[in-house]
Amino acid sequence: MIELGVNIDHVATVRQARGTLFPDPVEAAIAAIDAGADLITLHLREDRRHIQDNDLTRMRAAISNRVNLEMAATEEMVNIAIREKPDDVCLVPEHRQELTTEGGLNVAAQRDVISLVCQRLALAGIRVSLFIDPDPTQVLASAEVGAEAIEIHTGQFAETPLGDQRKVELDRIHGAVQAGLEHGLRVNAGHGLNYDNVQEVASIEGISELNIGHSIIAQSLFTGIHSAVGEMKRLMLESMPD
Ligand code: PXP
Repeated sequence: MIELGVNIDHVATVRQARGTLFPDPVEAAIAAIDAGADLITLHLREDRRHIQDNDLTRMRAAISNRVNLEMAATEEMVNIAIREKPDDVCLVPEHRQELTTEGGLNVAAQRDVISLVCQRLALAGIRVSLFIDPDPTQVLASAEVGAEAIEIHTGQFAETPLGDQRKVELDRIHGAVQAGLEHGLRVNAGHGLNYDNVQEVASIEGISELNIGHSIIAQSLFTGIHSAVGEMKRLMLESMPD
């Protein structure tokens, strides 16, 4: 059964805009799980622009579902992960000025660093996923550096208008899923998925988990988080291959 990871970073963004204690991303996570989220995803950025260290600690204590920590492959973040022990870590590239994660990790170009981080996290009992573009070279490199999972970046697909080019982007995702499975990797996907495009990705056989944030939190403003998460999960399950 395909799983839904709800990314609650935007809840923390609203909180940080005022420096208050609310809205609380942990409270949002509890509501999301109640509505059918399988896991909670959060990104502790180096600049702490939304999620704070304490959110990760509180999240771990408050929910028994899986916690998936997105982070850069830096010494500081690896030490935090080893201390807090999220179930999963998804390594992402991080650039200070970006609005959101742009592009996947170039695993092939930094094999030594990523391989070492994978080893250290695996020793701490954390499953490591690498956020990569749907590119066979990056899939192979991910398997070679010892990651257990990949998360395929669906942003390019999501930004491409309906038409021939969109089909090309979807085919690239299909190819990367296939390649990942052939290399024995768990294959997740995410970025830019919304209520209109999620079924095209959720219907691809072999994807274990989708991580979705922006569209769900945006929809929550109008319908509440319960309905926003429930509807996304319903669309995913409806489109699963038989
Ligand atoms: N997966 C990864 C690795 C991400 O960095 C993000 C954005 O934080 C997402 C999934 C979720 O993307 P979106 O907010 O566009 O749904």
